Amino acid sequence: MNRTLALIKPDAVDRNIIGEIITLIEQNGFIVRNMKFMKMSQSIAERFYEAHKEKPFYDKLVTYMTSGNIIALILEKDNAVRLFRDLIGSTDPELAKEGTIRKLYAIDKSFNSVHGSDSDANAEREIAIIFNH
Ligand code: RTP
Ligand code: MG
Repeated sequence: MNRTLALIKPDAVDRNIIGEIITLIEQNGFIVRNMKFMKMSQSIAERFYEAHKEKPFYDKLVTYMTSGNIIALILEKDNAVRLFRDLIGSTDPELAKEGTIRKLYAIDKSFNSVHGSDSDANAEREIAIIFNH
């Protein structure tokens, strides 16, 4: 079994679709190993997104991710990282496949409802930042 970090982002928490997203996660065979309702501090967001520091969308991203409550989940499944990326779909919901979480729920490519780690190493790095383990 492998693990990944999922975030339900502020746009989704604010629209009362937490349950729908977690239902899809469970229906797709991911086991929820830990879950935390929280608000990202500025310093946590800066650590979490340090790889994006030079990107044009960085300031907007950090402002968004610290703007409201989020839910962080440690998910377990064989090939968890790749299979969760498949379930969430492309960054931009207009490009995301039918049935993916972003196709169903994302507002646009910035406010896109969910996060999924993009490698096993980043999953462990992100879990350490959010859950301190
Ligand atoms: P995530 O990290 O949230 O799972 O998303 P991702 O891998 O699909 O996308 P990434 O390139 O890592 O970007 C991180 C988040 O930054 C916001 N973003 N905005 N052009 C834009 O306005 C833009 N591009 C990216 C999104 O919230 C994206 O998920
Ligand atoms: Mg990413």
